[in-house]
Amino acid sequence: MQSNRRFFIKSLSAASALAATQSLAKPLGFNYIPNLMKVSPNDKIRIATIGMGIQGNYDTRAALRNPDVELVAVADLYDGRLEHAKTAFGQDKALFTTRDYREILVRPDVDAVLVVTPDHWHDHITIAALKAGKNVYCEKPMVQHINEGKAVIDAWKKSGKTMQVGSQRISSAAFQEAKRMVQAGEIGQINYIESNNDRFNAIGAWNYSIPPDASPTTLDWDRFLGDAPKRPFDAKRFFRWRNYRDYGTGVAGDLFVHLITGVHYVTNSLGPNRIFSSGNLAYWKDGRDVPDVMTSIMDYPKTDQHEAFQMVLRVNFANAGKINDVTRIIGNEGQIEFSENNLILTKKKLPIAPGYGNYDSFFTFTEPVQQEFVRQYDAKYPPETRTAEPVKEVRFEAPKDDDAHAKHFGDFFKNVRAGSQGTIEDPVFGFRAAAPVLACNESYFEHKVVNWDPVTMTKKPSTEAPAKSTKKPATTARRT
Ligand SMILES: NC(=O)c1ccc[n+]([C@@H]2O[C@H](COP(=O)([O-])OP(=O)(O)OC[C@H]3O[C@@H](n4cnc5c(N)ncnc54)[C@H](O)[C@@H]3O)[C@@H](O)[C@H]2O)c1
Repeated sequence: MQSNRRFFIKSLSAASALAATQSLAKPLGFNYIPNLMKVSPNDKIRIATIGMGIQGNYDTRAALRNPDVELVAVADLYDGRLEHAKTAFGQDKALFTTRDYREILVRPDVDAVLVVTPDHWHDHITIAALKAGKNVYCEKPMVQHINEGKAVIDAWKKSGKTMQVGSQRISSAAFQEAKRMVQAGEIGQINYIESNNDRFNAIGAWNYSIPPDASPTTLDWDRFLGDAPKRPFDAKRFFRWRNYRDYGTGVAGDLFVHLITGVHYVTNSLGPNRIFSSGNLAYWKDGRDVPDVMTSIMDYPKTDQHEAFQMVLRVNFANAGKINDVTRIIGNEGQIEFSENNLILTKKKLPIAPGYGNYDSFFTFTEPVQQEFVRQYDAKYPPETRTAEPVKEVRFEAPKDDDAHAKHFGDFFKNVRAGSQGTIEDPVFGFRAAAPVLACNESYFEHKVVNWDPVTMTKKPSTEAPAKSTKKPATTARRT
């Protein structure tokens, strides 16, 4: 179908299209452009990627694995990546490339932008894109700092546009199955969630390769800095930005965010109310200013969706021991353990009768007291209350072709076509996942417990964290 929209786009030259839209946009700041051009259900969705680094390439490919999606433009700050994008994505068409993302936002032939820049640019580009009438797929964490979240949510609401945050794993079959299991009560009431994500190699610790032609000429250093403190050109900071608080969000924003997103999706939780972190820069003392070992504890309050539970997340980039990464959701009737794209449900229920004997106080009673104890026990616990249900293990294997990344984009595009804001990871959901992990950093750097209201999405006054002690405990713990 040749829609009016296509006809309109075709009939404009690139330059006149730019000028036409620029007249709608205020210099350097857009007023909201409501439904500039709606995508009709039969139309191709035209996307542009802003930030064509590692994940920009993966995201773009995942987006294009959906039908009727076309890449029309790319913005990046390093010329080598713009050149690479032309060969990787533009073989059969002219791909518009630029260092200035604003040139993408004024193009009327762009329906949706993928924001895949370092974290410190997420809020700026997302807000500008929404104001320019674009639908937005923004990488995780949605914002770099907690105080940036509400502005993104407001911009999204005002724009009426579709937005998806990019923790794509929640669109996997395994997470969908985990949600079904938890909601069906398969593991009873959740009381504890734990996850490790350990590594021991330079690339895993974010020391990505730096191209030998990196220089202030081949890349736009000033624009990269954005609202971060000004400093002289440093290729390490540009290509390994995760290692610096000025641009990234440390292990919490980078890695914990995936897990917390999954947990919120599976449990229908709005978030924790108390967050505490501890850690250390133990090994990668290469100039980075973020920890490489970190453990965070989050307390989730009881809600109408779940009982109170605790979540403990850990990253150790210096684990030269046996790495056994695991994510477990533990309830009082079983657990779900994730393995790659699959999961194992183990169901285990206690018998009603508590039992007696073995390591117990029973043997310390006198003979007559033991006899009386047994008499009362037998009366109270008939045989059928004394045996536990056999432990049951259910393995869920995701279909071989399960493509969570493409599906996450698929959900975004479906909503773009419907003109709906109801994505699986909208900005409210995205912020409820981002804020607690950003609070993990606040707790670590400021040595405090962060108190958070997950309903209103606001911080509450902090409490002091226990001081780090270097002394050995005076007594050894006793078994109780
Ligand atoms: N969802 C996931 O599984 C996942 C995985 C990896 C990374 N990410 C996220 O993707 C984002 C990018 O990470 P990456 O590993 O691809 O980083 P990267 O350094 O490989 O790429 C970032 C690119 O953004 C460009 N850039 C920086 N500022 C820009 C600006 N103002 N305008 C246009 N381009 C700009 C840089 O030139 C660079 O090429 C991060 O937010 C990261 O957290 C998500």
